[in-house]
Amino acid sequence: MERKKVTIHDLQAKKQKGEPFTMVTAYDYPTAVIVDKAGIDAILVGDSLAMVVLGLPNTVSVTMEEMLHHCRAVARGAQYALLVGDMPFMSYQTGPTDAVRNAGRFLKEAGMDVVKLEGGKKMAPIARAIVDAGIPVMGHIGLTPQTISALGGFKVQGKDAAAAQQVIDDALALEDAGCFAIVLEAIPDRLAKIITERLSIPTIGIGAGPHCDGQVLVTHDMVGLFDRFVPKFVKRYVNVHDQMVEALRQFKAEVENRTFPGPEHCFTIKDEVLERLY
Ligand code: KIV
Repeated sequence: MERKKVTIHDLQAKKQKGEPFTMVTAYDYPTAVIVDKAGIDAILVGDSLAMVVLGLPNTVSVTMEEMLHHCRAVARGAQYALLVGDMPFMSYQTGPTDAVRNAGRFLKEAGMDVVKLEGGKKMAPIARAIVDAGIPVMGHIGLTPQTISALGGFKVQGKDAAAAQQVIDDALALEDAGCFAIVLEAIPDRLAKIITERLSIPTIGIGAGPHCDGQVLVTHDMVGLFDRFVPKFVKRYVNVHDQMVEALRQFKAEVENRTFPGPEHCFTIKDEVLERLY
């Protein structure tokens, strides 16, 4: 079957048909190629790159230029997945003019299809301004890592009645603002179910249980490339970290015992050429 580029309408159609969909992160060309080959529906160039690629303690300090640099690499590697550029902290919170200008850069300069921003009701006017400029917006509520200081750490959100109601109100405000989908991060599964049923746009869960329309994971977490911690909601499908350490140890041993490079890795030269050398 001919494979087509995934659009926001495909994700909406999947919600209507009750077909779950997938999104994972990628920050570079080879990962984008792999993710696309696996048939994942959407690639998020997440600001999580600050932590899992740049080794920073949180996502707050990553810049627009760093995000665009990684988005360009991903766009070169992916042909089919919907490409989502994550707007970094302070690239949109400062007002609609900055927000529209920076959102536009993800599409014009970095090959992204849509942008994602964090925040609920308070960010709805900003989301609306970007949508009105013709740029599809994915919302992100619940645990919003850019405001980790205000939230008091990486904690599950929406656990008491007031907080749960707030998450529902945030979701409805983003839907009203024209967002085409919303990431729900680290909220109880039954709250995510209520939100998913209330919204006409797809929800994409990360630590939000099985009832969301789609699921998203940070690739470096699920393949074991990020070793600092593993959140409870992550399933590790493979441990690439250990596999790479083992491969590099073997390389070191083979160089030291002179079994690498072997004849199959060498370029040859004719005897008569060598004979003319002095
Ligand atoms: O930056 C990111 O990777 C994200 C996901 C956790 C959804 O926002």
